[in-house]
Amino acid sequence: MIQSLRGMNDLFDEESQRFTYLIETASTIAKRYGFNFISTPILEETALFKRSVGESSDIVGKEMYQFEDKGSNDVCMRPEGTAGVVRAFIQKKMDKQGGEHRFFYHGPMYRYERPQKGRLRQFHQFGAESFGNSSVLEDTAIILMMRDIFDALQIPFRLIINSLGCKVCMPPYKDNLVTFVTAKQADICEDCTRRLDLNPIRVLDCKNDKCQTLYADAPKLINNLCTECDEDFIRLKKLLDDTGMTYTVDTNLVRGLDYYSKTAFEFVADGIGAQNAIAGGGRYDRLVEFLDGKPTPAVGFAIGIERVMGLLTLPEIKREGYYFGSLDEEGIDALFSLAQNKRKATKVHISYEKRAMKKHLNAADKINAQFCVIIGENERQEGKVWIKDLSSKSEETITLEAFLKG
Ligand code: HAM
Repeated sequence: MIQSLRGMNDLFDEESQRFTYLIETASTIAKRYGFNFISTPILEETALFKRSVGESSDIVGKEMYQFEDKGSNDVCMRPEGTAGVVRAFIQKKMDKQGGEHRFFYHGPMYRYERPQKGRLRQFHQFGAESFGNSSVLEDTAIILMMRDIFDALQIPFRLIINSLGCKVCMPPYKDNLVTFVTAKQADICEDCTRRLDLNPIRVLDCKNDKCQTLYADAPKLINNLCTECDEDFIRLKKLLDDTGMTYTVDTNLVRGLDYYSKTAFEFVADGIGAQNAIAGGGRYDRLVEFLDGKPTPAVGFAIGIERVMGLLTLPEIKREGYYFGSLDEEGIDALFSLAQNKRKATKVHISYEKRAMKKHLNAADKINAQFCVIIGENERQEGKVWIKDLSSKSEETITLEAFLKG
């Protein structure tokens, strides 16, 4: 029997209801903040991710679903949504137009990671990207929008923030950090040795306890920000304080993608295991320029839908629409035209199999129909249907005419 690939799940029944509820809730809130829906392809040129997410990141270095297509193009299934949105933004020449452009999106992302609880190879994100605003007011709005989404979904979270500096303060900091870590190189883990060459600041979020102890006195970027980055970070914290948004500053929060500058943040949920980041994001003021666009500041986030789904309690599902069932073969055609008529106004489910009354009632209940409509030999001969309201439990036999009018 063919099975789905490891780390890739089917979504149906209650899971798909959670999924839809989450997307609908988040989309409604994103629209309130002035974001418009954008959809970009799953498959992109590999170079897009190499140049944005970064060759030194684990995502590009180890986890890409990358292959040559039939036209010998080097392509890749997107590991995240930001790069594609930025490419579309530049391709549509919105960078040249100037002004503010805000987009939200959702869809599957692909990372060849080792599957475990909360970590899939195909997972879904709901994300938003805002272009054209360099003010931390927009960083704050983005964080508040995420708060609104999680509040609407009744998901408790903790917010962690950091500043990753800019092209002025990051390079000298990196040099300091490399000097500090190189002095301890004999004792650090293999991953950190690799990071030291490729992307030194990633040593800061090494999960190895020994490394963490060694880095306890490492220089902190937060203490070495340039004046502009420092003032922005102070203002961001003040804006969050003013809106009652609680947060902690974690100077080791460096994020796994290379495009960030200044604000970086993660939303974390407790009680879901080691993979507890339910959303992440930040500012990426240089990415549009890196991808050959006109320099445009930008900030955004993405929520990991599967991680949030596990925490979600669905609102009580209301009964809705009709279930149609027949007790014999002859009744099915009659029901078909009745069902078609009701579909103009409401949700309809029809069974094309003759079944006993009890089976039909159970099936109607399972799909949360409001009414169960049954036809048997007697009803057919009298031009009537039997109908039961599954909420009030009242039942009656009425003429087809009355049924179609009602
Ligand atoms: P990210 O932190 O790589 O950021 O991913 C965002 C969220 O996707 C994570 O917090 C997590 O909830 C979920 N996620 C990531 N990998 C997996 C996985 N293997 N299985 C299940 N869930 C996962 C980004 O992707 C950036 N593009 C966010 C962003 C948008 N930054 C600026 N704009």
